[in-house]
Amino acid sequence: MTFDVRINPDAPADSLEAKRPSVDNGLQVPDPARYYAREFMQKEWERLWPRVWLLAGVTSDLPEEGDYCTFDFGHEQFLLVRQEDGGIKAFYNVCPHRANRIALNERGSVAQFTCAFHGWQFHCDGRLKGITDEETFAPALVAHRPGMTEVRCDQVGGLIFINMDGKAPPLKQWIGLPDGYIENYEIDKMHCVRHVRSTWDANWKVGVDSFYETYHLPHIHPQTQGVMDDFSQLDLYPNGFQRMIVPLCVKSHRIADQDTVDAGLRFMMQDAGMDPDSFKGNAREVRTAVQQSKRQRAQRLGLSHYEKFTDGQLTDSWATGFFPNVQIGMHPEGVFIMRFLPHPDDPTKFFYDNMTMYRYVDDPNYNVPAWMGLPEGTDVTGRVRPNIEHVPEGTKPDLGEVLDQDVELVAAVGAGSRSRGFRGPLWGEQEVRIRHYHREIDRYVNGEK
Ligand code: FES
Ligand SMILES: [Fe+2]
Repeated sequence: MTFDVRINPDAPADSLEAKRPSVDNGLQVPDPARYYAREFMQKEWERLWPRVWLLAGVTSDLPEEGDYCTFDFGHEQFLLVRQEDGGIKAFYNVCPHRANRIALNERGSVAQFTCAFHGWQFHCDGRLKGITDEETFAPALVAHRPGMTEVRCDQVGGLIFINMDGKAPPLKQWIGLPDGYIENYEIDKMHCVRHVRSTWDANWKVGVDSFYETYHLPHIHPQTQGVMDDFSQLDLYPNGFQRMIVPLCVKSHRIADQDTVDAGLRFMMQDAGMDPDSFKGNAREVRTAVQQSKRQRAQRLGLSHYEKFTDGQLTDSWATGFFPNVQIGMHPEGVFIMRFLPHPDDPTKFFYDNMTMYRYVDDPNYNVPAWMGLPEGTDVTGRVRPNIEHVPEGTKPDLGEVLDQDVELVAAVGAGSRSRGFRGPLWGEQEVRIRHYHREIDRYVNGEK
């Protein structure tokens, strides 16, 4: 193998930063029909989506008993509800009487649910509370006291997952990441400060593929070369999970001048609360300096969970792939949750759902990192949960320069994947994450899982 980037060659084997042993996923070139065929989409609906745990929400969206939010997935909509005992339950958001949606808003807080159609009432734990004019129903019809239909729900590290058919192993066993990997970031203490959903013109897997590698960075996003390297450490975990560690606060290895500290790196230092004018080192020393500065800042601000992070984690993006349709860009200051949600009927469209989660620190010298790309004036305190910005189909979402470049790219790849002249993707060593999760998809659609 010729591609073996190790972010920290000295990382102890049990460190979360350590390079994992490679996995042989073969060299098979899959039929590109998986990117457009209705038959393949149908197999996914039947054999993949019901069996996997789906990232449905975040715990900080439901701080109090009775708080709820919905999660749209295909033809389904789920209702996540904070319970009296502090737990979270999930239900199909459908009334057992005549199938009206029980909750009509994306989020809210209730003492009970009342269906707007005929006024049936439900407790927050899903039990039926009352049937309007119950004496007009034959007792046998409602003897089972029809409540909301519950769906399996569990959480890890502030992330809420659901599983539709109930056959998946327990969540913690199913998530292929080691203990602490997610929990260390304390996502439960972060708040969603921006949530955008847009429709992209390609199969959901084209979207995932393009976010699971940094191979395209120099070509599609050349502007990133001053602040990050496109050679990432790639690690494959069980059950289709994988991650890449993208080194930030460095210049791309493709740039000849590795000494001059220019605008991009100065900007990264400023973001971390440093004064770039007083920095005396060269460009190769910026990453370490930023790590030290962040470490000291965390101590000053009492952010004790930083003790669990490696130095690399303080600067780098740990872009982590949650099988099958999620990537979370993990940083101590906040995380980007990207969900690639399949279109219910059209295999050549998906919804890109992007939640920016931020941990608010009340300190005049602690700023939201500018690289998070939040629009001017965004409330980052977490006091008000913003509504989802639904970008109308056909409108270009304003997601920042880099993501806007991806929107165009993904549409072109989606269209190209249908060409008679395309024989299937040729994944190289910088694209092992893609092969890994496709291989796992195959296990589901072929009935091996
Ligand atoms: S559909 Fe809900 S009460 Fe009739
Ligand atoms: Fe990209």
